[in-house]
Order: sequence, then structure tokens, then C-alpha cells
Amino acid sequence: MKKTSFIVAACAALCIALSGCSNSSSSSSNADSSKADETTTTAAAQESQSVADSSETDSSQADEQTENIDYMVLVNKLNKLPDNWEEELQTEHFTNTVGDDVEVEKKAYEAYLKLKADLEADGVFVDLDSARRSVEDQQRIMDDFTKEYGKDYAIKTVATPGYSEHHTGLALDLYLIIDGKDIVENEDMMQYPEIWEKIHSKLADYGFILRYLENREQVTGYGYEPWHIRYIDDVDKAKEITEKGLTLEEYLGKATAEDFEVDYGKSEVFTEEQLKEAAVQVKCKFATFEGCVMHNLRYDGDKHNTKDKIEIMNMLDESTEFVKVARFLCDLKTPENGSDKFEADQEIKDYEWWLGLDKDGGWSLLQWGYSPAAQENAE
Ligand code: DAL
Ligand code: ZN
Repeated sequence: MKKTSFIVAACAALCIALSGCSNSSSSSSNADSSKADETTTTAAAQESQSVADSSETDSSQADEQTENIDYMVLVNKLNKLPDNWEEELQTEHFTNTVGDDVEVEKKAYEAYLKLKADLEADGVFVDLDSARRSVEDQQRIMDDFTKEYGKDYAIKTVATPGYSEHHTGLALDLYLIIDGKDIVENEDMMQYPEIWEKIHSKLADYGFILRYLENREQVTGYGYEPWHIRYIDDVDKAKEITEKGLTLEEYLGKATAEDFEVDYGKSEVFTEEQLKEAAVQVKCKFATFEGCVMHNLRYDGDKHNTKDKIEIMNMLDESTEFVKVARFLCDLKTPENGSDKFEADQEIKDYEWWLGLDKDGGWSLLQWGYSPAAQENAE
């Protein structure tokens, strides 16, 4: 008999409710969904605990003043800033060459100054455009980008307030100073790949990694940002991450995705851009599934976008108004040695991912899991 993973426990009830025929009564769906929601919260807590565990060594290396900061913390589209972060955070302020006040986490700032000096010795001049941002700062940036470039571009480029790595104080946006001139606009900075290469080659020596790698949008959730560096307070880990070409998600989750195209099928409900953004959410979450391999990912058609299922989504997260529902499926292999979530070395077919699209065009990944009954029937 198969071991039941926590995700199965968390999701079986809801997956059945969501997968079931669309005329299932909404009262029974409600009961199932609230149960599943509760367990998912536990699942999320377990996941953040395992991330915290993985960084114990770093914390012990930190000096007394900053020992409560988890320098390996994962903040991305699906993991928000930990609740008590600000209480423990210690920062420094300085004024950059364009006259802005910049706030940076203490140790990250010290490391940055060493990196900067090393670069200057090599004829490369940089400064910091932005480091720690409050949720309000992030909202302002989101609003400006939405106004200037439209919602689709803003969502792809700017993190949702509360979910930006900049809230940690450990993410630093560099800008270039070339012949005494400040190069601060993203499009302009992109014109200097050789300079970025020089900068990137020195990051790990000071405990930094490049956070949003080229062509890894499917895992990090964002396109290439040569300027966005992340302090992790551990030179050895930074070197390992850099040498292996990993994203932080992959390093922490040790999950890998085989190289495959996502099958978006045909949809009259969602645009291709919307489905791509939904797939990013799925891969971003999957990257934290320790030791699992995803073989493929496919949109499961417009049939799940029903009134009943939209209603369930709205019950799962009452703070958001969902207007559409999508289900993706994937086949995956569980970790060779098993994990807290999965039995060892199993192939799982049709693992389900349920997402809600809110009225502002943002996706939320609300449920994921598989039904052992469906697996057994398939065998
Ligand atoms: N540009 C990065 C993703 C942020 O807004 O946090
Ligand atoms: Zn940034």
C-alpha cells in the first residue's frame, strides 16, 4: 500500500471536490474545501520549517546582533516575508550617487562594501538603487509600473507587495556608473553584459548570489535581472549555488524539472500569457519539492472553470475575489529516498495543481496534490 503523503492528506478531499462532477452540491464542496484548507496551512508551515532547518548553520555563523535573521530565507511569488522579520532586522542607511536614501540589512551592507571595493580595483563602478523596501514602497513601484507598462508586464517584473525579496533587506539592486554617468534604467543597464559578467564573477566571494537567472523565469517567477543580487551570508553555499547554476528555489528544494515544454492546450477562457503566468506559479512551488522531478506540465482544459469551483476557490481564500479557475496536471517522480511528503521512487501521474485568477488578473495557487484512488484506478 502506498504511504500517504501530507499533500495527499491535505488535498485529497478538495481534489475530489474540485475534480468531481460540476453539479456536485456546493454545501458538500464547502465542507471538503475547508478541511483541505486547514491541512494546507500545516503543509505550508512544514515547508517553511524545513527551509528554516536548512539554514541552521548559517544562523549560528551570524554575529550575536543578527543571529535571528535567516539569511537563506526564501521569499518569492509563493512565499511571503516571514511575519516577525522586521522585529529582527537590523539595517544601515546611506545616500547613493543619485541622492536617494538606501536601506540595507547590516551584514549585507558590509559585504556589499567589500564587493564594491573589489570591483573598483578592477575599474567597475556600481552603486545601489534600492535594497530594503517596505510593503508600501513595493506597492508604489507596482502602481508606477502598471501605469507605465500595463498590468501584464508589471506582474512579470515587480513582486506583489508582501512577496518581494526586497522586504528582507538582503536583496540589492545595483546600478552602473560608467565614465562618471549613472546608468539606472533597466533597459540601459542591459546594454552592458560584459560588465555584468565581471560583477557576477565576484558575487560569491562576498556571500552573494545572482537571484533571477537568465531563462529561469519558470522557477524564480521573474525574468533575467542582472542587477538584483541576494546576500546569503555563506561564501561556500554562494559558490556552490553559482557553480551549479542553481536558483535559490532549486538549492533549497533540491527539486529539478526536466527540460520540457509546457502544454497549454487550447483555451477560450485564458490568454496564453495568463496560462504562462499560471505555469510559473506551479513551477515556482514545485521547485521546493525536495528531490522530486517533474516530467511534464499541462493545462487541463476549460472544463474546470465552473461556477462551483470558482465558489470553492473563494472559500479557500476569502481575502481575494476569484473570477476564474484553472487546473494543471503533471507527472512526477518522487525522491529516490522518499521525503516527508512522498514515498521513495514512485511515478505519480496526473498530480493536480488548482489555481484561481482574481479580478485584478493575478493568480493564486490554492491547492496541489493527487488522489491515491485515481492513481490506483489508473494502474
Ligand atoms: N523585481 C523584483 C522581482 C521585485 O520586485 O522584488
Ligand atoms: Zn531587485
